[in-house]
Amino acid sequence: MSSQPPHPALLIPGPIEFDDAVLQSMSHYSESHVGAPFVSTFGDVLSNLRKLFQTTDPASQPFVLSGSGTLGWDQVAANLTEPGDEALVLHTGYFADSFADCFETYGVKATQLKAAIGDRPQLDEVEKALREKKYKVLTVTHVDTSTGVLSELKALSELVHRVSPDTLVVVDGVCSVGGEEIKFDEWKLDVVLTATQKAIGCPAGLSVLMASGRAIEVFKARKTRPNSYFGSWKNWLPSKTDSLYTYLPQSNRLAVMQNYEAKKASYFATPSPQLIHALDTALKQILSRPLDQRFADHRNASQTVKKAIANLGLKQLATKPENQANTMTAIVLPEGVTPPDVVPSLLKKGVVFAGGLHKEIASKYIRLGHMGVSVTDPDRSDLTKAIDALRESLAEIGQA
Ligand SMILES: Cc1ncc(COP(=O)(O)O)c(C=O)c1O
Repeated sequence: MSSQPPHPALLIPGPIEFDDAVLQSMSHYSESHVGAPFVSTFGDVLSNLRKLFQTTDPASQPFVLSGSGTLGWDQVAANLTEPGDEALVLHTGYFADSFADCFETYGVKATQLKAAIGDRPQLDEVEKALREKKYKVLTVTHVDTSTGVLSELKALSELVHRVSPDTLVVVDGVCSVGGEEIKFDEWKLDVVLTATQKAIGCPAGLSVLMASGRAIEVFKARKTRPNSYFGSWKNWLPSKTDSLYTYLPQSNRLAVMQNYEAKKASYFATPSPQLIHALDTALKQILSRPLDQRFADHRNASQTVKKAIANLGLKQLATKPENQANTMTAIVLPEGVTPPDVVPSLLKKGVVFAGGLHKEIASKYIRLGHMGVSVTDPDRSDLTKAIDALRESLAEIGQA
């Protein structure tokens, strides 16, 4: 029995429903952000992130910064690219437009490779683009939250390494990490960035990023200073031997992330102890079971939802099964029905769906998230409730 006050089940594609223990971790008494107990918790978070991302390479570097998923884009643009560099942005919806805009903010030229709505750029198109120009980074949205399109990372990364080996493979995993399988080392990814409020199941407010040793080397080889302050890795990583930092006094040459992981106090900017506690609990819960089981739970829940949607006579935006995310579903509404015709009625039945987000078709579809405790907690019936509510809401407007 949940200790949370009764509330509609939040089934938008993030933030999601939270486990009681995760929420309760946030009511931790105040403690020093450089005191041993908190530093130890932060250290656990960083080493557990390595497990979640399935990396054992000591050169990989996890970052946890106060901020939202968007801060991950800023970290990539500010630290791994320099003004004048080129980025190839694979477009599967709204979030690629925003990532491209972020690059442009930092003076980086972003070329978008677009697919039809509900589809993803094909490997032969990516290969052609990579052969035409030298790109410093390629970015891909693992699950595009605006369309429910899933991108295939393994084959994509293999292609990039074969055709353009110097190009860094950057994954926006905001709507995937914790729900979709990611093998950071095995798939030779360079950056996976995410946020806490989706499949990780922790309140919003932390930007989580894993960088490969190769990405860190690219960062260290920069000719120019990162054009961000808070998000600059020079403030979060060690720098004693690095010429980039010689202008800083020795005492300021920081190793914040490594120190935390080694459970040594360190400071650059004050972290949020309460959020770090919540993330610690969420990660320990996730890792208490084999990750494969967690990913299988998300796949199974997704299949159940998608079958139920089809039984209601509805289609998905992502039409090809291999393009369909396991963490969410973008549901196309019957002709003439718009999100305001159903979303308020769904809310009255105790479930919160999201409206459309892709600007060209926003009025034609709704989105349902299926991540975290709504999928893994056998005592919850959020998804059954969501499907029943959708059936009833459509019937009420003569659509079932
Ligand atoms: C795929 C994707 N990338 C990036 C973001 C931005 O994350 P945030 O809203 O936490 O800044 C989101 C947010 O929903 C997202 O779904």
